[in-house]
Amino acid sequence: MNKHASADLKAAKIRGGVATDQRHDSAHKHVTGEAVYIDDMPEPAGTLHACLGLSTVAHGTIRKLDLAAVRAAKGVVAVLTAEDVPGDNDISPSGRDDEPVLAEGRVQFHGQPIFAVVARTREEGRRACRLAVVEYDELPAIIEIEGLDPINDKLVTPPLTLRRGDAAQAIAQAPRRLKGRMRIGGQDHFYLEGHIALAVPGEDRDVTVYSSTQHPSEVQHMVAHALGVPSHAVTIEVRRMGGGFGGKETQSNQFAAVAAIAAKKLRRPVKLRPDRDDDMTATGKRHDFVVDYEVGFDDEGTILGVDYTYAARCGFSSDLSGPVTDRALFHCDNTYFYPAVHARSAPLYTNTVSNTAFRGFGGPQGMVGAERVIDEVAFATGKDPLEIRKRNFYGTGDRNVTPYHQTVEDNIIHRIVAELEESSDYARRRRQIQSFNNNSRFIKRGLALTPVKFGISFTATHFNQAGALVHVYTDGSVHLNHGGTEMGQGLYVKVAQVVAEEFQIDLDRVKITATTTGKVPNTSATAASSGSDLNGMAARDAARQIRRRLADFAADKYQVPADQIVFLPNRVRVGNQEIAFDDLVKQAYLARIQLSAAGFYKTPKIHWNRDTGEGHPFYYFAYGASCSEVSVDTLTGEYMVERTDILHETGRSLNRAIDLGQVEGGFVQGMGWLTTEELWWDEKGRLRTHAPSTYKIPLASDRPKIFNVTLADWPEAHVPTIHRSKAVGEPPFMLAMSVLHALSDAVASVADHKICPRLDAPATPERVLMALECLRAEARK
Ligand code: MTE
Ligand code: HPA
Ligand code: MOS
Repeated sequence: MNKHASADLKAAKIRGGVATDQRHDSAHKHVTGEAVYIDDMPEPAGTLHACLGLSTVAHGTIRKLDLAAVRAAKGVVAVLTAEDVPGDNDISPSGRDDEPVLAEGRVQFHGQPIFAVVARTREEGRRACRLAVVEYDELPAIIEIEGLDPINDKLVTPPLTLRRGDAAQAIAQAPRRLKGRMRIGGQDHFYLEGHIALAVPGEDRDVTVYSSTQHPSEVQHMVAHALGVPSHAVTIEVRRMGGGFGGKETQSNQFAAVAAIAAKKLRRPVKLRPDRDDDMTATGKRHDFVVDYEVGFDDEGTILGVDYTYAARCGFSSDLSGPVTDRALFHCDNTYFYPAVHARSAPLYTNTVSNTAFRGFGGPQGMVGAERVIDEVAFATGKDPLEIRKRNFYGTGDRNVTPYHQTVEDNIIHRIVAELEESSDYARRRRQIQSFNNNSRFIKRGLALTPVKFGISFTATHFNQAGALVHVYTDGSVHLNHGGTEMGQGLYVKVAQVVAEEFQIDLDRVKITATTTGKVPNTSATAASSGSDLNGMAARDAARQIRRRLADFAADKYQVPADQIVFLPNRVRVGNQEIAFDDLVKQAYLARIQLSAAGFYKTPKIHWNRDTGEGHPFYYFAYGASCSEVSVDTLTGEYMVERTDILHETGRSLNRAIDLGQVEGGFVQGMGWLTTEELWWDEKGRLRTHAPSTYKIPLASDRPKIFNVTLADWPEAHVPTIHRSKAVGEPPFMLAMSVLHALSDAVASVADHKICPRLDAPATPERVLMALECLRAEARK
């Protein structure tokens, strides 16, 4: 199996270089079950299993914590509380010291971990957990954000304001103006593989943790912090995750810390894999938002000024809520130019789980707000929303400055939308749907075409760096390691393609290896869609260093000028002769040439001043558009997506096969967020949708009946990204906005498109039905 196909020394091209379609390196193993996830790893002898005891109130002080029955239960080896944390009882990723490993004295949400049971088996641990006697003095709990004051109520982190021009004046002086409010729901990540950590104690202070994390370096630092040991004592490794979607950017810290503390204390390996219900209850989700907007516009529908307040339910701690709510503001423009804008965030404290990163990282909520405003203007002026969209697009030479004062330099939305409008047959279907609706009493159809522009880079400039480690062994095979993590998105194969390209060797000569803090240090989370941009560049840098050494060696040994050394597929031309890559490597080794290198990359050009709200936070933008048609049963609110057409761009793609999967998957996940996935906390702050029985992610049958997905073949990044490709992880998520707007269009048809349905998200069948009832009632007035 592992034997390489022998290298073709006459090939015109290598197998598996950049800009070729390669399947996911583990695709066959995902299907057969051979891909090893942490819970599949053989457990070291003596492994114990931990289970978390969770708070049963939303806010309160702990009056009594009696764990005697837990300790006495069958199979229990130890019970840990905050007192057992040897270092700092804090895993706050923001540095605000607001998130304990185990709650101490006070609990701030229903589901907060208070203690951990360590038992011989997982089953025994879970049973013992139930025997705890915890008494609380309950305190008033803030659950919902509706009704909170975005300025005077408690925030978890400082808010952001973006401002360009005088929005208040522009709105006041505009020929027309309106204001409204939109509610946008949150989302559970529903990764197939839940959170897990397996901690194996080593000698001295050492510990190795296998953690399902997108951010091994942060887990390393958090575990070290909680144990009170230097970072060098802690190694984190992750070969792959069964999905992360942002839910494993910070939320892995807790599980890794508890497992590591238990492992060091008991000197035994400890595994912590929460049950799905506990995972859903105890880990943060996408932020739900309440967006207040006011817009001034003219009779043609040109926007003259906007004012936004984006209030978010952040939960009890800061986590990533600062950058998430910042990114919401960074996308309150989507593809639209605002001559004057004022936008403010309100990261509100609540007694709910601390919300976190989720694909798009606040950007989707920002854009959904922008698209609601477009819809409002379209209904107010009686025009097709697509016309209003196009009218307000950023220009290419003028009208191109964002609310954060970065100029949009790479705008291709005009062409993307024009091509999609054509290929989806928008105009003809618009007419067809009109006549269908005129003739159909109960089933109504709706159509919408929505654009996406998404900023690529971490908004905290210092995260935009990456490292890689490349070894070439004496047989010419290559070991590749970098700081990025694999969560199904295809990062590993893309970076391997970059390295294969650099050495001009077939892809199967490059071995992709598990991400570990021991090989590449101080890495950023694999997030912000920048995994292949950053790690691809770092790996190329490492490969280039080795390649240069090989070239110098060959030039020297064979006495030919450097420009006569050419790396051809699987071989190197040295003057007039060709030497197999493997042979040259062997010769270089014998001549004591270093065949290993560490690579590094940092994104150029970007800067951002949060205090002034001005800068150039994004290296570039990724663009796309989608057009969806839905049919709605107006008696029940049930609906179906009849057809979706997508045109998305990923620059000069490294791997279109992978990118296509990202576009399809991102769209469907976005559709779930905007339609059927509804998180529901009761008045006590209990999450009542904590399992697939009550939380509905899209099924295969919910996929659009006709689904035409195209990657534009003409764009390339306007800046020198890795082989001029563009990021693809998050941008397609927001293509799903066309489904929400198509539903809104169908609902509006019952009142002759005279009233904006103000359909909130998620547009569950219930909410669609309520919107229909409201419109029917208003139309009768
Ligand atoms: N695709 C799969 N299959 N699984 C995932 O967990 N996460 C998404 C996206 N696509 C995810 C995914 C998120 S939130 C991000 S930020 C990017 O992948 C991260 O990977 P990248 O930067 O390598 O694209
Ligand atoms: N995107 C995703 N994850 C992040 C970011 C971001 O901008 N900043 C910190 N973590
Ligand atoms: Mo993605 S939300 O940046 O992990």
